[in-house]
Amino acid sequence: MTNRCWAEIDLAALQSNLTWIRHRVGPKVRIMTVVKADAYGHGLRQIAALLMQSGTDIFGVANLEEARAIRSVGRGWPILMLGACLPDEMERAVREEIMPTISSLDEARRFSELGRKFNKVVNAHLKVDTGMGRLGVSIDDAPELLKSSAQLSHLRFSGIYTHFASAEDDSAFTHKQRRSFERLNARLASDGFHFDHIHASNSASLLHESKSAFNLVRPGLLVYGLLPTGRRRANSLLRKNLRPALSWKCRVTLVKQIPAGTPLSYGRSYIAPHAMRVATLSAGYGDGYLRAGSGHCEVLIQGRRCPVLGRITMDQMLVDVSSISKVKSGDEVVLIGRQGRNNITANELAQWCGTVPWEILTAINYRVPRLYLNAHAA
Ligand SMILES: Cc1ncc(COP(=O)(O)O)c(C=O)c1O
Repeated sequence: MTNRCWAEIDLAALQSNLTWIRHRVGPKVRIMTVVKADAYGHGLRQIAALLMQSGTDIFGVANLEEARAIRSVGRGWPILMLGACLPDEMERAVREEIMPTISSLDEARRFSELGRKFNKVVNAHLKVDTGMGRLGVSIDDAPELLKSSAQLSHLRFSGIYTHFASAEDDSAFTHKQRRSFERLNARLASDGFHFDHIHASNSASLLHESKSAFNLVRPGLLVYGLLPTGRRRANSLLRKNLRPALSWKCRVTLVKQIPAGTPLSYGRSYIAPHAMRVATLSAGYGDGYLRAGSGHCEVLIQGRRCPVLGRITMDQMLVDVSSISKVKSGDEVVLIGRQGRNNITANELAQWCGTVPWEILTAINYRVPRLYLNAHAA
């Protein structure tokens, strides 16, 4: 089969990233791999299977469909739903034994009721808001919520967690969040509350704050070999150990010589300032290559960087190949990844598109087949 636009996922790279995370956090800290949004665009089922073999302890998901996909690959792994359950999802979460995230007494009561109905004790994680402002009970209200929940016969808080708002940018604020979470945990312990899992660290925190591990970490981006973008710079030794798992490719479909003054793409968004050789490529925003990158992005052809000209369209885009002599229809083009000595990272593409690497990866859509490499080496 001919692919016009596809992603290659290096499973050995993923495994080596997980090994590196294991090494960084030490043997006593558990790892919850975050596999939301189709494992950050890498393909949930295949990645879940690999992570199961590579020592993940828990999976973190955004919804029940993702949890079900993981269960279809292998039973027995604990799964935490990181989002709040909608009222009409709660019953299924209980029946399928997906651990919910709880932020309120009302949710705790409903889950316990459902636990009673299905004769199960629901294992939940309490989320505490220390500064993200999204989900979570406030620090002040957490002890009362736990005291009231202690009466609930079919609910057990097996975990407690918080989420950092800007671990990649702001060490002072992250430190403040961590301190308030630590103080809360100390108070809860002295009140007799104990949890199997206490967690806060996402990738940025794991990279920048070796102390904030608690007894479980929740990396996403690092698992896939990418560094969170932000003002804080990771130590170069740490960076060197990560290998991006995903490459994204397409093909040249046509090469044309154009005279000076030729308009290119919708809105005549580029006018050739001189005679040029232009290649049409088989990828566009319909594959998830963000239109916001129009006029800023570069791709690799024959190991050389070629600028994108004019607006990116749904299925195609145009690049300047004037500096490459033998480019022809069918040639491979790298959108993310390495070709020869050159490399384009998801972080670089994100910068061109005015966004973050998380969005670049999760935007790569269903039209792009994922091909898995190095399965035997993983
Ligand atoms: C609650 C929670 N924890 C952990 C993560 C993983 O974040 P990262 O990819 O930055 O490691 C996410 C991702 O969005 C999240 O929402």
